[in-house]
Amino acid sequence: MPTDNATPILQLKDVKISYGQIQAVKGIDLELYSGELVCLIGANGAGKTTTLNAISGTLPIASGELLYQGQRINTLPAHLRLRQGLALVPEGRGIFTRLTVEENLRMGAYTRKDKEGIEADLERVYSMLPRVKERLAQVAGTLSGGEQQMVAIGRALLSRPKLLLLDEPSMGLAPLVVEKIFEVVQTVVKEGVTILLVEQNANLALEFAQRGYVMDGGKVTITGSGEDLLKDPKVRSAYLGEVDEAA
Ligand SMILES: Nc1ncnc2c1ncn2[C@@H]1O[C@H](COP(=O)(O)OP(=O)(O)OP(=O)(O)O)[C@@H](O)[C@H]1O
Ligand SMILES: [Mg+2]
Repeated sequence: MPTDNATPILQLKDVKISYGQIQAVKGIDLELYSGELVCLIGANGAGKTTTLNAISGTLPIASGELLYQGQRINTLPAHLRLRQGLALVPEGRGIFTRLTVEENLRMGAYTRKDKEGIEADLERVYSMLPRVKERLAQVAGTLSGGEQQMVAIGRALLSRPKLLLLDEPSMGLAPLVVEKIFEVVQTVVKEGVTILLVEQNANLALEFAQRGYVMDGGKVTITGSGEDLLKDPKVRSAYLGEVDEAA
């Protein structure tokens, strides 16, 4: 949790992101402290994916400040952000469907040269994701949706991230698999990785996250602890499928 004088691991200051003439993110502020699990929720088209892609460096920002571990990374290429421990599991998973599970996992370590460390991290991923270990030789495109998501997360862990960005890891998955994904997310946080989680499944995300940000129309509209957001009538009516009795 944030302490008074800690430097955030990630900080966005008035960040704007555009697709040509269209501004998708209209100036947002966001902070993440080391060890936190923070979620980002909001309706379709709110700008969540755009924000994660800009943090990971796959999308440029139009203006504002992007700070990672206190350093300005506004124009740092994505592969150098990855090398510094900033990894993204993209929306739709982005696994290599024609490669095997093991090849996919090893791709995650492509920026690393420490062979022993890579093998150790592979073992760590196998123990965290036994289903993945059983399928190392399987072509990734033939995995179930849940298994593919596990491989995508496992691959990101092979880059030994300090900050992991997860874009809707539970999308399209059955409740039991969603539970498993959240279990994995919690294990990863316990191991010391900071996580920014984008989720449609707001109820579950807010239950697990220490803090949350709500985005709407390219702006952050509400922010607070997971607990407070769960209780917030506006959040409940807009994102948790409840009637706002105060409105
Ligand atoms: N490549 C693109 N070109 C033009 N506009 C885009 C592009 N990608 C996204 N947008 C627009 O930017 C806005 C934000 O999209 P974004 O994908 O970030 O939303 P999101 O919050 O992730 O939504 P969802 O919950 O549906 O994934 C939307 O209006 C979308 O149409
Ligand atoms: Mg999205």
